[in-house]
Amino acid sequence: MVKGNGINDESVSLQRDDVGPQQFKNGEIHDWYRLVLGYSDHLVGALLDEFKLGPEAAVLDPFSGAGTTAVECKKRGINCWAVDANPSSCFATKAKTNWRIDRSELVRLGLEITSAFQKRRGNLRLLESDRTTLYVTTSGMVKRGWITRSRLFDVIALKHAIDEFTSASRVRELLRLAAMHVLVHTASNVRFGPELYCGQPRNDPVLDAFLHRVLSMAADLEATDVCPPAETFVRCADSRKLSAKLINAPSAGFDAVITSPPYPAEHDYTRNSRLELAYLENVRDVMSLRYVKRSMVRSHTKGIYKTDCDDVHVTDFSRLQRIVRRIEKQLAWKTASKPATDKTRDCGFERLYGKVTQEYFGGMRRHFRALRPLLKDSAHCAYVVGDQSSYFQIKIPTAKLLGEIAATEGFEVTEIRKWRERWSTGTKRFLKEHILFFRPSTPA
Ligand SMILES: C[S@@+](CC[C@H](N)C(=O)[O-])C[C@H]1O[C@@H](n2cnc3c(N)ncnc32)[C@H](O)[C@@H]1O
Repeated sequence: MVKGNGINDESVSLQRDDVGPQQFKNGEIHDWYRLVLGYSDHLVGALLDEFKLGPEAAVLDPFSGAGTTAVECKKRGINCWAVDANPSSCFATKAKTNWRIDRSELVRLGLEITSAFQKRRGNLRLLESDRTTLYVTTSGMVKRGWITRSRLFDVIALKHAIDEFTSASRVRELLRLAAMHVLVHTASNVRFGPELYCGQPRNDPVLDAFLHRVLSMAADLEATDVCPPAETFVRCADSRKLSAKLINAPSAGFDAVITSPPYPAEHDYTRNSRLELAYLENVRDVMSLRYVKRSMVRSHTKGIYKTDCDDVHVTDFSRLQRIVRRIEKQLAWKTASKPATDKTRDCGFERLYGKVTQEYFGGMRRHFRALRPLLKDSAHCAYVVGDQSSYFQIKIPTAKLLGEIAATEGFEVTEIRKWRERWSTGTKRFLKEHILFFRPSTPA
């Protein structure tokens, strides 16, 4: 293990020998909802062990995604605060950490809903006027082949049956989570690689998949009986604006932060969860989608807005500015090499590569600034991030740059540890993912 700012490229001991870094060693609960760019429960478990955190600790995940940190904490009886800007992530994390569920009621309602399904499925007026149907159709998802109208109607019928049968039941959110999973992984044709694309049409029956999901949730919940009690606090918020009041943080401060923020990798987190956002009716039109996108740290060019100005926070970071200058130089060269009559001469979204890089690191600086007052002086922070080269193949050493930025906001970097290498199909090269470890350096 290397101390200081140097990158330790030796393989690390954060994974069991018998499982790959992205497999769950026990997927119970975690499997209810997963993100393609999420990390695994055994990574979180190893970090909780390394930081020697037990049931008295308070852990924060400010970019909680599928809620992996929150679920793993709950399994160990540790209180966790999970924050994410994406409402579908927050919904899933809440459902995954609500274990005070009557399992027999869950199964009974699951069965009742499947038998009430046909009546709703036959009600075309109900299905056509549903808000999810309207958004999925008008936004072009049906036209682009993400899902057929008929398969969409299967899920919408399920959605109405759930809402009608569970109005006063604690199991409603779990059943909705099961239906959301079926929407994406059974009814639709989308795949993730890691970006969303359309694959071969799927034909598996929606109802069978739903019932199977409900039964496996009930079985997973049985396993939670042995877990010590713990609370999870989920907040849908922008982690650049964290405050104790916003997330109802513990007054003594957090003992640790275990998280994986976005990276500047041209990845749109709302695109991969667009169907879920439509199901939950969090996104119903362009405006509501924009609202979600704007609350995120900028990590792709299609999420850049005219009023964005997080870049002003990183003008004095020379390593980052050198990278941005290389990107701009490459853009200028590319533009100049095209004839004046070439319609693609303005380079489209490539013009924003430099801007999004600065916006990303500027946004993360705001996050670190907001984070420091919420931590105990003895707190541990572990941020899992990947190096990138999505912008003209110019390498962005994400962990190193974030470490430099954190150091200006009251933290000291203790280690940058290689976690794994990932093959990037876009750039045809291996990119490293690191865990950036840092701790408060000055009293709060
Ligand atoms: C790499 S994913 C986290 C994956 C997570 N560790 C897991 O295992 O599922 C990054 C997350 O950051 C969220 N995010 C992006 N900008 C945010 C912001 N400003 N505040 C809070 N969450 C944000 C995205 O919605 C996404 O869920």
